[in-house]
Amino acid sequence: MTAHETPASSERIICISGGTSGIGAGLVAAFLDAGDRVYTCGRSPKTVAALNAHWSDAVAAGRLVALIGDVTEAAFRQQLTARLAQDAGRLDVLVNNAGVICGSGTLEESCQQWRETLETNLIAPFALTQVCAPLLDQAAAPVVINLSSACGQHPFTTCTSTSYSVAKAGLDMLTRRLALALGPRGIRVNGVAPGVVESAMWRGAEAIMHTTVAQRHVLGQQVVTAADVAAAVLFLASPQARLVTGTTLNVDAGYTLG
Ligand SMILES: NC(=O)c1ccc[n+]([C@@H]2O[C@H](COP(=O)([O-])OP(=O)(O)OC[C@H]3O[C@@H](n4cnc5c(N)ncnc54)[C@H](OP(=O)(O)O)[C@@H]3O)[C@@H](O)[C@H]2O)c1
Repeated sequence: MTAHETPASSERIICISGGTSGIGAGLVAAFLDAGDRVYTCGRSPKTVAALNAHWSDAVAAGRLVALIGDVTEAAFRQQLTARLAQDAGRLDVLVNNAGVICGSGTLEESCQQWRETLETNLIAPFALTQVCAPLLDQAAAPVVINLSSACGQHPFTTCTSTSYSVAKAGLDMLTRRLALALGPRGIRVNGVAPGVVESAMWRGAEAIMHTTVAQRHVLGQQVVTAADVAAAVLFLASPQARLVTGTTLNVDAGYTLG
């Protein structure tokens, strides 16, 4: 498909930050399977290349565009939205998925780790939504979905990074504030808060991951999968959720129950 070609009428234009790994990669697969056109990004050229190789048919058909870039950088956010504007002129679904954990502890984390955590998990979702809003305005049923976490809802001792928990708590409030601000424009804004999903985020912390699942996933100690999260995201992006806005849906096997 050439840059200016109009997408098939049922094809939605999807933008997913951080689609090269874990939950984001699951979201890319789910939206491609649903027949949509997906734009995504990651900082590592190697993982972007791996994603492109995995989905080479979709890339060749113009249904997957994966860019190398950092969503905490304004210049990259502009580049991404310029590409969306040029290719499609609209955006149906924005998924703010990219996230990091930079440290652990409460008094042990450095201010630099706090800044990186807040920049990626909280400020970038705001800034990307801000810059995408004019494109969302051009869609028939636009939706923003923020990837939150069970960690944002209670100071669980199993959530070892305080900056991460605070960022996700802030993201939940951002979801509600954006829903309020964008509702009159017909843009819905929701969140999905997973429990433990096995991914690169847990690299080096596998023992804590297994303990967390054993202690907090009351629903049969089952690990949440990227496909479980994608099912919730696809629901929130669908017409079935047309009056759902300002809410965060837990997909956590009961993590947040108490
Ligand atoms: N795994 C869990 O248990 C869990 C639970 C609850 C919530 N979540 C949330 O779910 C989301 C996805 O997590 P995950 O487990 O799938 O993590 P992951 O496997 O580490 O994937 C994170 C993705 O985000 C990208 N990314 C990170 N920082 C970025 C930046 N500044 N700019 C662009 N891309 C960036 C990464 O690629 P590069 O590193 O190459 O940039 C990667 O593609 C996060 O928001 C996370 O907080 C995860």
